[in-house]
Amino acid sequence: MPRPQHCPSPRELADLELLAGGALAPVTAFDEPGSPVTIELPEALVGEDVELVDPEGLPLALLHPDGSFETLSVAQHGPFRRLHLTPAAVRERYAGATFVPVVDALSEDELASLREVGTPLVLLAMTGPGAAELSPVALLRASLAAAAHLPSTAVVAVPLASHGDAQVDHELGAHVCAVYAGPDPVLALPDPGDSDDEYPDDIAEIVDADQPSPDRRGLVLFFTGLSGSGKSTVAQAVIDSLLESGERTVTSLDGDVVRRNLSAGLTFSREDRETNIRRIGWVAAEISRHGGVAVCSPIAPFDATRQDVRAMTRDAGGAFFLVHVATPLEECERRDRKGLYAKARRGEIPDFTGISSPYEEPADADLRVDTTGRTVEDCRDEVLSALADQGYLARPRGSSAPGGAQARPEGDDQGEGTSEGPLRVLFVCTANICRSPYLELRARQLFGPGAGVEVTSAGTQGFTDEPVSDTMAAEFARHGTDIAGFRSRPLTGELIDQADLVLTAEAEHRTRLLEDRPAAFRRTFTVGQFVESAQAADPQLRGRALVDAVLARRVPAAPEHDIADPYRRGPEAAARAGRQMEELLDVLVQRLRTA
Ligand code: ADX
Repeated sequence: MPRPQHCPSPRELADLELLAGGALAPVTAFDEPGSPVTIELPEALVGEDVELVDPEGLPLALLHPDGSFETLSVAQHGPFRRLHLTPAAVRERYAGATFVPVVDALSEDELASLREVGTPLVLLAMTGPGAAELSPVALLRASLAAAAHLPSTAVVAVPLASHGDAQVDHELGAHVCAVYAGPDPVLALPDPGDSDDEYPDDIAEIVDADQPSPDRRGLVLFFTGLSGSGKSTVAQAVIDSLLESGERTVTSLDGDVVRRNLSAGLTFSREDRETNIRRIGWVAAEISRHGGVAVCSPIAPFDATRQDVRAMTRDAGGAFFLVHVATPLEECERRDRKGLYAKARRGEIPDFTGISSPYEEPADADLRVDTTGRTVEDCRDEVLSALADQGYLARPRGSSAPGGAQARPEGDDQGEGTSEGPLRVLFVCTANICRSPYLELRARQLFGPGAGVEVTSAGTQGFTDEPVSDTMAAEFARHGTDIAGFRSRPLTGELIDQADLVLTAEAEHRTRLLEDRPAAFRRTFTVGQFVESAQAADPQLRGRALVDAVLARRVPAAPEHDIADPYRRGPEAAARAGRQMEELLDVLVQRLRTA
């Protein structure tokens, strides 16, 4: 267990000639303002002299057990190094100025109020993790831009690590500013509160570039799971899809591939696996730093190492998205595409994950995908949909395809989760002249008025304004269904967006539809899949509550769920399709109606 050791007080730290460096990063907690600083030290170091070094190992200061310290060197590198001055140098150089602490880009209003001050100004840019709204370098860039909007204004960088307590951070910040200002006044800008900040154009550009929207922010998409779980296959399908849309740059860091290059020579011991994953994490985090997408697919069996990768990514400014490919061991072993499980069972491969080496299931996965009995496309779409939900993808794929939808953010899935008004159900088949009209017209007939459900239909390759095909005429006649007013229509993105629930005749229709609207994944099912999922849900649930339950827990789409196309296949095929649809509608109508 790390033990705390007393270190210099904030005042001493503020006077320390190396405030400029990352040297103070190990400081983790202040008990109280003005009290000694606490640094967590490994047990072995308690009571020893401790050398503080920069990331390259350059000694910066020597800390003695009694809390006194010696300066060893001053950090030389880093952007805007020239703005990092010691408090003594600042007091001397800017004597007589007014000092203004700055933690965010300055707005038009703030600049206007500073123009009134009259004396030369020094903007103290309070950089450091947690201290500022912007990244340290962007805060300095924005402060320099602000200085250019003001008469005789200088900028000084004041690195100040956050200590996780707003009050302590504030008091320490005030204290440090006073040390820099010496006898000169410190002017605190009023808290802008919730007011909309209007920035001058050049400052707005700096802020925008520093805080990219999720679809431009770097992303580490990390698949973890057993060997043979389908990680690489799903990851590759996701990569292909991202490359096709061209919206992000993508690098693949597949487990087997990495072990042939970046991690060549490593074994499968716990230690080497950890090294392997940290290497992958390090590279992935760097990719995310530049706004790229790194798709990683190693087994990564240990929770702590996955957490390390999450932290590395966060520190690089990227987003981390963990997909647990949760295909059970029995299924992975049944597949055994590389014959490794058989060998591991025979004892020919030591430390084999799932057999003779542990796999720690993640409790923090953003998405859990069991690939058992599912198609690659289905799993891929689920991942893409989850990414779109989080805003990591900007545009619907295939939005330029004929009949495709208008481009709009995928995360903005208006159809989903609408809890007002009737439940809107869209049935989909190919041409919208046999199966989906049957489902629509019969459902409407069975629901009758006031059931709280609205039904419509469309076809993935639907014609416009065709009547229902004669194929189903006898089936409709059997139920006395009125088909006179029906006219076919092609499926559009808007129709999908307007629906609360999209039910397709076959899995193929679902795949086609999701190419245009991946974000609709969660509310799109084959009819058979939805009905089976509904039957697995709490039997008391009806209407929207049932839909919500099925959205949260669906059964996988299976081939036997498909309603085969009866078009021009004779009366037998039509009757078979009719019977199948009646059975499905029976459950659907009972369970979706709320009145
Ligand atoms: S990890 O544990 O370090 O994340 P990684 O994903 O790189 O594993 O490599 C796993 C791949 O190496 C498996 O897909 C399999 O093909 C192969 N492999 C060889 N030996 C083992 C082993 N002992 N355990 C698991 N996978 C192994």
